[in-house]
Amino acid sequence: MKDFIAGLPKCELHLHIEGTLEPSLKLELAERHGIALPYDGPDAIRAAYRFDSLPSFLRIYYEGMDVLRTEPDFYDLGTAYLRKAADQNVRYAEIFFDPQAHTSRGVPFATVIDGLHRALLDGERLLGVRSQLIMCFLRDRPAGEAMDTLLASLPHQDRIAGVGLDSDEKGNPPAKFAAVFERARREGYLLTMHCDVDQDDATEHIRQAIHDIGVDRIDHGVNALEDPALIAAIKDRGLGLTVCPISNGYVTGSTKSTQIRRMLDLGLRVTINSDDPAYFMGYVAENLAVVADELELTKEDLVLLQRNAFEITWLPRDVKDGYLAELD
Ligand code: ADE
Ligand code: ZN
Repeated sequence: MKDFIAGLPKCELHLHIEGTLEPSLKLELAERHGIALPYDGPDAIRAAYRFDSLPSFLRIYYEGMDVLRTEPDFYDLGTAYLRKAADQNVRYAEIFFDPQAHTSRGVPFATVIDGLHRALLDGERLLGVRSQLIMCFLRDRPAGEAMDTLLASLPHQDRIAGVGLDSDEKGNPPAKFAAVFERARREGYLLTMHCDVDQDDATEHIRQAIHDIGVDRIDHGVNALEDPALIAAIKDRGLGLTVCPISNGYVTGSTKSTQIRRMLDLGLRVTINSDDPAYFMGYVAENLAVVADELELTKEDLVLLQRNAFEITWLPRDVKDGYLAELD
């Protein structure tokens, strides 16, 4: 099944670009900027990756970003990911970025988006991987700061497909950002939002995301299975769910494969993604392999997961159809 997964044209829809910062690039960027890291090599960096919950992961994730400072840094980060994507036959990716994690350190918004966008252009031209950016707001920071970030993004809107919401969910429900997402929608952005797995008030957060915010997609959203009304709403609206099994394993102790099987059986548009692959040590092919193994997926199941993914992309219909035809 590994060879089948390797050859399958794939789509990645839940990937934080800052979560693709591999230890080797971290060291290279630290050297570029004369930053002394307390690690003597990639293995030492990896050995310090100890997390068993979302907050314990996020602490390490934000710390790691300090080496990202200039436009070429962001270009190199994006390019390194897109090379990996090309190696795994990822044909299309929608890529999250966290501008507040950089602007709060004094890195200008334009530096971040210029570097990432240049990487995306070259990724398509040189590697044949098409991609778009999704700007995420940090939900554990004030809603006013998210609104400021939204306004700062408007001059760059032609390079951003939509907006999302990530970081620590505890005590930070979708409703906190209702005005921000309403304005984002009015400005023409598509909307998605993390509803992380097994969070406090998980089903209420999913309800708010669907009914109060009107999201176009849900990132994770596994706990929707606990409420038949949420399942019905997701089905009626044709909402996609971007599930990340290996990430789930680290953050909750379970890959949630059983729930993925149930989503497939219910006919929901579930997709398999990698979240923060440099930290969780699995890109999309490894995530598909884990689920294929745990659920004994057939080739048809794996094709269906990719069909779901291309179907829920934020691409024009004719482009989607082109990718879907590759799966026939
Ligand atoms: N930001 C980066 N990775 C994240 C995750 N897995 N959950 C929430 N916010 C994140
Ligand atoms: Zn995520």
